[in-house]
Amino acid sequence: MSKPIYVLNGPNLNLLGVREPEIYGYDTLADIESRCAALLEGTDHSLVFRQSNHEGQLVDWIQEARTEASALIINPAAYTHTSVALYDACKALSIPIIECHLSNPHARESFRHHSYVSLAAKGIVAGFGSIGYELAIRAVLTLVKQ
Ligand code: DQA
Repeated sequence: MSKPIYVLNGPNLNLLGVREPEIYGYDTLADIESRCAALLEGTDHSLVFRQSNHEGQLVDWIQEARTEASALIINPAAYTHTSVALYDACKALSIPIIECHLSNPHARESFRHHSYVSLAAKGIVAGFGSIGYELAIRAVLTLVKQ
């Protein structure tokens, strides 16, 4: 068995489904987690899927992923645009990092156009709503095989 794929979610994503559904859709984070888990069935990877509203908690989990994960998919939410700490934590990882967003931040307010995490990411999935997480899992499965 290979190491699990970590999917980490930042602030306010616990409210998915009820928070600005015209932007983020009606699927809940639990819906997304079960679809990601289903995608990994029959593969060599299990799923670690977590959400926190706290920057330090996310830093701790990214550090954990450094040794415990085979890849990291992260939706840092608002911390995408503000957090040097998440960026620094990501920089310490040698596994592939995929940044994932439900919306397309580049089509929104200008303060969302910059991402610290992108500087450490292998790739970015954005603008496809909740299926973006599944696209990220597919990308990771290809990357870790290479
Ligand atoms: C988000 C985009 C961010 O700008 C925003 O702060 C979020 C969600 C997304 O998934 O589209 O909370 O990361």
